[in-house]
Amino acid sequence: MTDTSTTPAVERVDGRHRYEIRVDGRRAGLTAYRDHGGQRVFFHTEIDDAYAGQGLASRLIRAALDDVRSSGMRIVPVCPFVAAWLSKHDDYEALTDPVTPEVLQWLDAELRRHAPGR
Ligand SMILES: CC(C)(COP(=O)(O)OP(=O)(O)OC[C@H]1O[C@@H](n2cnc3c(N)ncnc32)[C@H](O)[C@@H]1OP(=O)(O)O)[C@@H](O)C(=O)NCCC(=O)NCCS
Repeated sequence: MTDTSTTPAVERVDGRHRYEIRVDGRRAGLTAYRDHGGQRVFFHTEIDDAYAGQGLASRLIRAALDDVRSSGMRIVPVCPFVAAWLSKHDDYEALTDPVTPEVLQWLDAELRRHAPGR
């Protein structure tokens, strides 16, 4: 039986447009995205300081990108951490699209539209 109390678990939270990683039931970090047609655009990743340097961001990104792969979508790595991670993992190259000015402009508008208080 798997010991879920110590295994970090990654979950997609559609309503908040992000994947979260939990350790011992506590949220330790997240990677945020917006969907642009068939592309999942990742723009921000963070791991709480208390959990830094334990490989959690790497584990989170792998799980998130595997989920994108299984859904048949493509990846756009606007987040510098995701871009750096992809540069070290060739096996995701076939599902990665470039970050274009058009995508950046769309993302900017999308994030402004959903900013709190608007
Ligand atoms: C960047 C951050 C998400 C890394 O989280 P973490 O769980 O400590 O990272 P990991 O332990 O999984 O590190 C995995 C690898 O990423 C590298 N790395 C760490 N920070 C990095 C960064 N900002 N950019 C690129 N690579 C980074 C590590 O050196 C490590 O490389 P290695 O596997 O070759 O040794 C975390 O430090 C953070 O939340 N920072 C503040 C927000 C931020 O800068 N986010 C990134 C841009 S949106």
